[in-house]
Amino acid sequence: MTKRVRKAVLPVAGLGTRVLPGAKTTPKNLLNVVDRPILSYIVEEARAAGIEHLVFIVGRGQGAIEDYFDANPEVEGALEAKGKADILAEVRRDIGPPGEMSFVRQMAPLGLGHAVWCARHVVGDEPFAVILPDMLMAAEPPALAQAVAAYEKVGGNIVVVEPAPEGEAHKYGIVALEKAAGRLNRMTGMVEKPAPGTEPSNLFISGRYILQPEIFEVLETQERGAGGEIQLTDGMAALMKRQDFHALEYDGTTFDCGDKIGLLRANIAFALRRPELAAPARRMIEDLLRA
Ligand code: G1P
Repeated sequence: MTKRVRKAVLPVAGLGTRVLPGAKTTPKNLLNVVDRPILSYIVEEARAAGIEHLVFIVGRGQGAIEDYFDANPEVEGALEAKGKADILAEVRRDIGPPGEMSFVRQMAPLGLGHAVWCARHVVGDEPFAVILPDMLMAAEPPALAQAVAAYEKVGGNIVVVEPAPEGEAHKYGIVALEKAAGRLNRMTGMVEKPAPGTEPSNLFISGRYILQPEIFEVLETQERGAGGEIQLTDGMAALMKRQDFHALEYDGTTFDCGDKIGLLRANIAFALRRPELAAPARRMIEDLLRA
């Protein structure tokens, strides 16, 4: 029997360099996709996978994230007074039960491995999920639920992967597989940002993980890797010497919202998926293309 995955770590402390200046005063994961912040979709995905506790790893100036997921009596009261029940329901939809969220300060941006390590006291001695909130995933069942289902099948550690766009593998963490048969395969290695031409496969680590708590011991003494950062990929590669890792090629579409075009693409794609917006969004796009 595998231990249930109850907690998810969400590293959100990045500066959002690729979406500045918008991300200067609004944490990048609070930027909107249609009418909801990216984090609204991410938290919904986590809850759909059975996650009961979310651990946000934040930096300075990101208090708006806590405020977003808290009640706001002024806004809610005004909507109530005006009888705007539908908007009120939308506003309240993201607010979970008291105690569902913890916020941990990373203090210095030393890398993803360091961010995850900051969650060690809140996660404790149990398997947990990591979600990279820049990577918005449209999938059914949701991406993290697919990862949890894979974990319940094979145990150990699960890393969600997908094919990298042609010529872009060097920007990501890349996995090596024992054999590539079906969507869930045992891993034999992984490397963060391989030099072009040296990639062990075309499958990149796309932002959902199920990890065993022993990763914290490894990250504790982790040397800096690619880009001078403490890399989660290096930590996982070290843990792989004593624990099983499987790569899951998930079924869905990923949008990199940490990037201008990725964020724009997500806005358009999500508008086209909304029944009440699909037709006007399509007309708007056609108009723009004709202009
Ligand atoms: C991080 C991870 C990398 C992963 C990528 C997905 O890199 O280190 O393994 O492939 O996210 O977006 P970063 O984007 O922070 O450079």
